[in-house]
Amino acid sequence: MFYWVRSNIFRTFRGRLAMLYISLEFGILLFAAMLLYVALSQRVYQDVDEQLSEQASSLARALESSPFYFWTGHLSGFAKHYPGPIQLIASNGQVIFRSDQSLINRGGNDVTRALAQAFRDDLTAFASTQSLLQRDNVRVIAMPIHRGGQTVAVLLLGHSTGDIRSVFNLLYLLGGILGVISIIISSVAGYYMAKKALKPIEEITSTARAVAAGDLSRRLTSKSQDREIRVLVLVLNKMFADLETSFQSQKRFVADASHELRLPLTILKGEIEVALRHPRTAEEYEEILRQQLDTIDRIQRIVNDLLTLARADAGQLELAQNEVDLSLLLQEVGQQHLILFDSHHVGLEMDIEDGLTVMGDAGSLERAVMNLMNNAFKHAPEHSTIHLSAHAVDHSAIISVRDEGAGIPEEEQQHLFDRFFRADDARCRKEGEGAGLGLAICKRIVDAHGGDIWVKSEPGKGAEFLIRLPLAGPNPGLQDRLQGVLKDGGASA
Ligand SMILES: Nc1ncnc2c1ncn2[C@@H]1O[C@H](COP(=O)(O)OP(=O)(O)OP(=O)(O)O)[C@@H](O)[C@H]1O
Ligand SMILES: [Mg+2]
Repeated sequence: MFYWVRSNIFRTFRGRLAMLYISLEFGILLFAAMLLYVALSQRVYQDVDEQLSEQASSLARALESSPFYFWTGHLSGFAKHYPGPIQLIASNGQVIFRSDQSLINRGGNDVTRALAQAFRDDLTAFASTQSLLQRDNVRVIAMPIHRGGQTVAVLLLGHSTGDIRSVFNLLYLLGGILGVISIIISSVAGYYMAKKALKPIEEITSTARAVAAGDLSRRLTSKSQDREIRVLVLVLNKMFADLETSFQSQKRFVADASHELRLPLTILKGEIEVALRHPRTAEEYEEILRQQLDTIDRIQRIVNDLLTLARADAGQLELAQNEVDLSLLLQEVGQQHLILFDSHHVGLEMDIEDGLTVMGDAGSLERAVMNLMNNAFKHAPEHSTIHLSAHAVDHSAIISVRDEGAGIPEEEQQHLFDRFFRADDARCRKEGEGAGLGLAICKRIVDAHGGDIWVKSEPGKGAEFLIRLPLAGPNPGLQDRLQGVLKDGGASA
């Protein structure tokens, strides 16, 4: 039981919420009861005192204005219709009159003190008697009676407060019962409301557990009314989806990478086995080794590309931040390809605007453009032309590499920049050469430079790859506009 209470009430949010309800409500009820008691009892006792004082004064006046021997008669007459105890005590302590119950003895010290005060100070005093069970408590007034300017006696009049007490007791009982009922109801309601509000948390916990255990397709279905929970569910679902996507792509990446490397390794192994089958001349060995060097080159290239991509994924692609003369860089790339293109009867046309400067890493940018040029060359038919151009447009340099090859079907265009994506390479010049990593790397490089890369192509009409890079330095266009604004301002002044 103790453990149940501890783990369900004190260690759970809903339990603590319910406890908070109970203590808050208990505090409020207690405060309200106290306030009510103080205000009500003051008012009621004030009424009693006023009533007592009125009755005592009228009796005192009657006594003071009549001779001693009439006093007992007056008092007996008064006692007939007065429900409470009456006592008249002379200054020598003698009891002149006493109704059926004695007051001095009942009230203990309080009544005696009031009596003494009335004699000593010649002032009306009040006192309350208290019985053990508080049933017949009496409020007592002690009023001095004068004769010839002297206090000759003190009149004690009592008024039973037992009725008031019993009303108060009933009030306490009712208030207590209502309070307990309302505390029970509201704490149970609070507990269940909190439990209901926190229900999605249970689903979140179990789903997160399932996802952590490897079931990445699990999603939260809870449709909570509460905005906080709804937002949490949305964010978590997005996180699970991202996790699944990235996990899937990692899985695919590893599978593709091992598949890509297995092919050249199998070739290499086959070639070596064939070579070792019987002795060969030195020239034959040299020829075989040369072929193998090609295969090893290919493996090396794939491994390097994979490393670049892995570094880019981990955010460790080391890029310099230099001012790069893009115009010069593009011209050099073009020049380097001239002889290769020429040997395959492919023309190169360059239209490169001078003075294009970007911030970034010259080596990586060169690699990206080279990739595009190689792709274009692989897909360019003989006697066609490849166009390399670059222009400044709206604070950016737009680089374009266009060929007149077979183009790329629409449905393939969106996958071009994925890793290991290769289109059906029947139309490609050197089948089986590429690993499908070139464009993925291009995209990484361009992204890291804050630019974009995209393709425009229609099947049969060639393909155009475009790169946008933000230009470095003060923007000439912006400066022109600023000057225009200044001129306008000057003219109007
Ligand atoms: N200019 C182009 N014309 C037609 N198809 C192209 C062109 N450029 C790329 N592609 C298609 O896009 C695919 C992906 O290109 P990407 O450069 O990423 O890989 P790859 O050239 O096959 O291999 P890698 O560049 O890794 O050696 C290519 O396989 C090809 O099908
Ligand atoms: Mg390529």
